[in-house]
Amino acid sequence: MIDKIKDITAQVEASIIANKQQLEDFRLAFLSKKGLISSLFEDFKTVANDQKKALGAEINRLKQLAEAKFEELQSKLEVASADEADPLLDLSLPPIPHQTGTRHPLSIIRNRIEEIFTRIGFTIAEGPEIEDDWHNFSALNFPENHPAREMQDTFFVMRDPDIALRTHTSSVQVRVMEKQKPPIRLLSPGRVYRNEAITARAHCFFHQIEGLYINEKVSVVDLKQTLLYFAKEMFGKDAKIRMRPSFFPFTEPSVEVDVSCEICKGKGCNVCKHSGWVEIMGAGMVDPSVLENCNIDSKKYTGFAFGMGVERITMLKYNIKDLRLFSENDVRFLRQFHTLS
Ligand code: DAH
Repeated sequence: MIDKIKDITAQVEASIIANKQQLEDFRLAFLSKKGLISSLFEDFKTVANDQKKALGAEINRLKQLAEAKFEELQSKLEVASADEADPLLDLSLPPIPHQTGTRHPLSIIRNRIEEIFTRIGFTIAEGPEIEDDWHNFSALNFPENHPAREMQDTFFVMRDPDIALRTHTSSVQVRVMEKQKPPIRLLSPGRVYRNEAITARAHCFFHQIEGLYINEKVSVVDLKQTLLYFAKEMFGKDAKIRMRPSFFPFTEPSVEVDVSCEICKGKGCNVCKHSGWVEIMGAGMVDPSVLENCNIDSKKYTGFAFGMGVERITMLKYNIKDLRLFSENDVRFLRQFHTLS
């Protein structure tokens, strides 16, 4: 038996392996239950008692030797395969550039508009996109069954009580006026929804920014000056504005606001349809009954409001011809908007 132990010891010591399969073969040959060392323990049962001590120690020594050898071979194999894993590793190569995203053009313009108005004391407030009839229509003076409601094709979530996707951000005016005491200077950006066919010029969802200023003695002059300031900051110092009479249920008087076409400088082009002017928003003096609906004393306070489409202003700024591009997520389109001049 001692010869057998010596023979196996020699085999273990001489083992070299080059791959995982050979490592496994080593384990099966020496260390597994049916391996050579286990068979020695079987033979050991038949050994005479006076030899048991010496032989037992030899077998245990061999077992430890085989286990140590197995671990050594295993770790050598791991180191070798890690080296092999990346034979082309070249630490002197320049790094692969990290691709950062770009801001969406609508976000760039929205941020810019927010910045222009927060500089003169407006604060940002957002409201829910799912609105009740009161905040979207009734408090804003849209009488029930009045044709004014048809100006805005509505997506209803529920009828009676009516819950709908908000059709404009004017709903946030109501929410803020109900909670805050004047003076109020509010800017409210957000997404709005209308049941309209999707074309190059219209979409079933788009973005608006609503403005509201309520204080004592606010007049049309304040509205005009604020919007002129905005137009110059947004479109350049030569920008002019003009107001045309219009109608909104929640303002009296109501106006549409045009800005001078900065693309052709008033000479006439496709964007301004050869008029020299482009419409950018609706505005007006807040109707006293809207103030009363929100528990604001209309004898003491007056105010102006305006609402603009973010898509429209972005299209003007970047000369984009098709509104659908904003929501198609084509990175070739989106990657073009890094900065705003
Ligand atoms: N809510 C109007 C719309 O969706 C835009 C608007 C017009 C907002 C006049 C106003 C305003 O605050 O005074 O078309």
